[in-house]
Amino acid sequence: MIHVALVGMGGIGNMHARCYQANRHTKVVAVVDMDRARADAAAETFGARAFESIEALLKSGLRVDAAGVTTAGPENGGHHYEPTMKLLRAGIPVLGEKPISNRVDEARRMVRLAKQKRLRYGINLNHRFTPAAVRARQWIDKGRLGTINLLNMRMWIDNPNESSSHFHMRALHPHSIDVMRYFCGDVKKVQAFFRKGKGRKIWSNVQVNMLFRNGVLGHLTGSYDAGPGYGLELCEIIGSDGRIVIREACEVLEFYPRRSAEVEVYHHLGGMGSFPDTFQSRIDAWIEDLRKKTPPARVDGRAEDALAAQLIIEAAIESWEKGKVVSL
Ligand SMILES: NC(=O)c1ccc[n+]([C@@H]2O[C@H](COP(=O)([O-])OP(=O)(O)OC[C@H]3O[C@@H](n4cnc5c(N)ncnc54)[C@H](O)[C@@H]3O)[C@@H](O)[C@H]2O)c1
Repeated sequence: MIHVALVGMGGIGNMHARCYQANRHTKVVAVVDMDRARADAAAETFGARAFESIEALLKSGLRVDAAGVTTAGPENGGHHYEPTMKLLRAGIPVLGEKPISNRVDEARRMVRLAKQKRLRYGINLNHRFTPAAVRARQWIDKGRLGTINLLNMRMWIDNPNESSSHFHMRALHPHSIDVMRYFCGDVKKVQAFFRKGKGRKIWSNVQVNMLFRNGVLGHLTGSYDAGPGYGLELCEIIGSDGRIVIREACEVLEFYPRRSAEVEVYHHLGGMGSFPDTFQSRIDAWIEDLRKKTPPARVDGRAEDALAAQLIIEAAIESWEKGKVVSL
């Protein structure tokens, strides 16, 4: 049984805790929140011990095999650094929330420390952990698309938060960019335009062009000015022999052959219902990586992937601010 501690018991920390509770290989033994009431409430719910700090948790002598960091902070990622560094220094593997950090220098330091300590360090890049994405990847690896030419990604929600000018890009698009990287690998060049939505102070809409290292042309459409009627997510991968479309991360997978009208469609592949189910599938995959002792460099959805997405995000912002194409 893997003993898990969770740090940051807001809505998402509680969601992670429910996922660990649902997996027969893990037990939530500790919950940490600087807000004592939140820690106590989660301790009661999950039958764990409550702590107000990581120092108190480490001093307690409680056995912790792995930790989740579900803090938030500026741009939803500014508070991850301190707890993650403390846990890694103590030799504890970490599954963090996205963005890995809103600051690239901090993200690099966390990745470096995990590497030095040879620890598994994953990020909850849950949008790629769907049976639809896995099947699409298998089709690509088997050459079903022929040569991939184009990748279009769209991700949007309604989020009225105006806390920083690039909150939308830094908080939402670690997800969309990770899915793009999952299918097409590393990005070489980035060019972006931003637009403030009606009545907004922040850059709440974006169009990004990407040139992948393998030559694929990628495009990302993003917005915080959408809503449930617009859906959440659409990914389209277009090759010389066929086209794949994934709708709402996991709900519909379609294959359109180039030279035939016969379309292959899967609804709710693997029985996955809708986006919230991706938390369980991602955390289950992390638990498998812990159980099987996957080498840190081969963990699926690892911190390096999240750092790579963050570098693309910063390149998009730089492209817009300087009016140029940015090379990575
Ligand atoms: N992967 C996804 O699909 C997805 C979806 C939504 C949110 N998120 C991410 O989840 C994270 C958490 O979101 P939330 O809405 O639950 O945030 P929240 O602000 O409600 O909760 C964060 C909690 O962390 C605690 N905290 C902060 N620093 C701490 C520290 N050093 N030690 C102990 N406790 C500390 C706070 O007191 C708070 O209770 C964010 O990074 C967000 O981007 C991910």
